[in-house]
This record gives sequence, structure tokens and C-alpha cells, in this order.
Amino acid sequence: MNINGSIALVTGGNRGLGACLVDELLRQGASKVYLASRGPVTVDDPRVQVISLDVTEPESVEAAAKAAPDVTLLVNNAGVLGFGSVLDGDLDLFERDMRTNYMGALRVARAFLPALRHGGDTAIVNVLTLIALAPAGPMAGYSASKAAAHSMTQALRSAVAGDGVQVVGAYPGGIDTDMLAGVEAEKADPRVVASRIVAGVARGDTTIWPDDASAGAGEVYLNDPARLERMLAG
Ligand SMILES: NC(=O)c1ccc[n+]([C@@H]2O[C@H](COP(=O)([O-])OP(=O)(O)OC[C@H]3O[C@@H](n4cnc5c(N)ncnc54)[C@H](OP(=O)(O)O)[C@@H]3O)[C@@H](O)[C@H]2O)c1
Repeated sequence: MNINGSIALVTGGNRGLGACLVDELLRQGASKVYLASRGPVTVDDPRVQVISLDVTEPESVEAAAKAAPDVTLLVNNAGVLGFGSVLDGDLDLFERDMRTNYMGALRVARAFLPALRHGGDTAIVNVLTLIALAPAGPMAGYSASKAAAHSMTQALRSAVAGDGVQVVGAYPGGIDTDMLAGVEAEKADPRVVASRIVAGVARGDTTIWPDDASAGAGEVYLNDPARLERMLAG
């Protein structure tokens, strides 16, 4: 889709990758960006409109869709990560991940779809993760929630085929944000990830590998999914 002149909404736009996506969308020509956040945020760019949104609260999602009826590019970025293995991870954390990363993203997509389906050149971007495609052992609940969101992305793509809505899955590797603070791993600069996601949407991509690690691993996944599973398990 054409980013220039688009009206975007970024969930979890207050920090981390979401804040970089807000900046990048403006840099690439979005005329307005709704910065959706659970908590208060102060911004002084007149092109940015802050709106309140908790993706796990149906009333909050409905109110956001009413407050932002002109959105043409929805970015489902908000997410949480509870660490834990499939054998003994805290199931409350598994549920929280599922409620936020899968149900939350689905709820937001549904709320904005009526406007997007009639909006012409429109898109939904779901920020997923490489480990949606094969799990990382210490993040088993998170991986499962993002695998569910990956499946939802595919289902949505076919459900709205023909309506002119570009449905995009972005599959980053590790990113240097609060989410992975304290974890020793290769981490991409969130500004680079944001710029590659927005560039991919502008190109019309429906699958985006937005950093060097995910581009390499994505290649593996496309050729040999079982090999990626072994790589991430290791
Ligand atoms: N960091 C990584 O290595 C990595 C890798 C691949 C994919 N991702 C994905 O990238 C996206 C952004 O993550 P990040 O790295 O920027 O993490 P982050 O720095 O922890 O930021 C998470 C954002 O999500 C928001 N959020 C969480 N729960 C929410 C809810 N119920 N309603 C609304 N907003 C909520 C947070 O808001 P508050 O400030 O209110 O908490 C915050 O703005 C996530 O979907 C994540 O899964 C991250």
C-alpha cells in the first residue's frame, strides 16, 4: 500500500518497536498516526494523536475503533512475553500471552476491519516473531501465542481476499527493546526493524523478515521447516 497519505494506528505505540513504527510511518509520509497506548503519553507532533487502548479489554477496543474511524493502516504491535518452558512454565503467563498476543490482536483486527474493508488502499500488519514458526524452548507460551496469531493472520488474509486489504505478517528475530532486556542474544535495532516493516508494506509484501537474523532463518523455514525447529530448539 501507499504509505504516503495513509492514516495509521499502532498498538503499543508508546515504547519499543511500536514507538519506532510511529516515527517511521511519519518519516515515510503517513499523514496521521494514532499512537494507541494503555497509559498516558505526551507527544508534540501534531500528526500524532494519542488514543487509549488496552487490547485485552473489549470495551477499550470498541472505543478506539470509534475514535479512529479513518484508519487505513492498522499495526497490531502490542505484545507481552512470559518466559517459561512447555514442561513447567507458569500457565497464568501462558494465558496472558495468548490473551494479548492472539486474542488481543484478533479483537483489534475485527474492530477495525469494517472501515478497512471499505477504505480502498488499506492494510493490517500483525507483528509476529520468527518463533511463531518454530518455538524457542524458554518462551514456549509466547511462541504458541504468536503461532496462533500467525494462523489468524493467514485466516484473515484469505477471509478478506478481494476486499483490497493487504494482510501482512512480520516475523522479527530478537530486537533490542525492554521485552528482551537482560537476555543475552543477537538483537536488532528496533529502528531498523521498523523501517524494514514499513518498507515491506509499501512494496506490497505479505510476509516480512525485518532484520538480518530473521531473513536468514526465514530462508531456512521456507526451505526446511524441520531444520528451523532443530535450530531454535538448540
Ligand atoms: N523484542 C523482541 O525481541 C521481539 C522480537 C519479535 C517480535 N516482537 C514483537 O514486537 C512487538 C513489540 O514488542 P517490543 O519488543 O517493542 O516490546 P516492549 O518494549 O515490551 O513493548 C510492548 C508494547 O506492547 C504494549 N502492550 C502490552 N500489553 C498490552 C495491552 N494489553 N494493550 C495494549 N498495549 C499493550 C506495551 O504497553 P505498556 O507500555 O503499557 O506496557 C508496550 O507498548 C510485540 O508484539 C512483540 O511480541 C518483539
